[in-house]
Amino acid sequence: MKDFTLDNLTEAVVEAYTANAVNPRMAEIFTSLITHLHAFAKDVELTEQEWFEGIQFLTATGKKCDDKRQEFILLSDTLGLSMVVDAINHPKGGKGTESTVLGPFYVDGAPEVDSGSNIIKRDIGGETVLVTGTVTDADGKPLAGATLDVWQTANNQLYDVQDPDAPAWNLRAKIRAKDNGEFSFVSEKPTSYPVPTDGPVGRLLAAGGRHAFRPAHLHFIVEAPGHEPVTTHIFVAGDPYLDSDAVFATKADLVAQFEPCDDEALAAAHGLQTPFTRVNYNFGLMPKQA
Ligand code: BEZ
Ligand code: FE
Repeated sequence: MKDFTLDNLTEAVVEAYTANAVNPRMAEIFTSLITHLHAFAKDVELTEQEWFEGIQFLTATGKKCDDKRQEFILLSDTLGLSMVVDAINHPKGGKGTESTVLGPFYVDGAPEVDSGSNIIKRDIGGETVLVTGTVTDADGKPLAGATLDVWQTANNQLYDVQDPDAPAWNLRAKIRAKDNGEFSFVSEKPTSYPVPTDGPVGRLLAAGGRHAFRPAHLHFIVEAPGHEPVTTHIFVAGDPYLDSDAVFATKADLVAQFEPCDDEALAAAHGLQTPFTRVNYNFGLMPKQA
């Protein structure tokens, strides 16, 4: 029997996890994870007290999670890991709309509504906005059968799931685009807001001397038959946090102008009065991969 030492331990642990790993990919992931984890501890000469604080931090992160709060996603987002995974899986330079983080506030199963619907279920003084656009393929050809899952904060900087006073599914819906790919819906102009800071991730941000704000945005998951779905945002041009997003998820092509509009026909079709605020954004989807 030989002793494990700082010099041979990493190799021994890698060997233990890879010799009989269930598949080659698992072996690859174990090798890299163990190697980097040990290297990190050696690099900073981690003290026992620091190691234990790390364990307590991860324990608190798990305890903060429930069906409405996902502190681990928030941790991944604020450490930039979510955007590393995004960049690996959705490299820049493609023709379709760029992706960005899902975030912790997506709720599956939003009510499906027709294009043209109003998704404001409670008026707390937000600025009404008409969102319009077309869902196309990567070459700009309109796609039939598209849906847009939409969610956003209200004027009080909270998602409905964070706000006990919000009606269910406020500012959340699955919009059915028309057969010519066009969609529209009436909502509120989003505001910038802080990610939740009442848990361990809040302490992490404070320890790094970072602010917690995200620039104002609407969330989308856009889907159409035969095409890859895209999880993305539309950001509000001019927002003061565009260059310091707490979760590093901004992309220039996703920034759109929210502008005054005096189109009487559009106003009448959506129960609005001119002038109203409008944002127009077209989404391009890539063909489904085999
Ligand atoms: C969001 O945009 O909903 C979000 C994304 C990442 C972390 C927290 C919130
Ligand atoms: Fe958000």
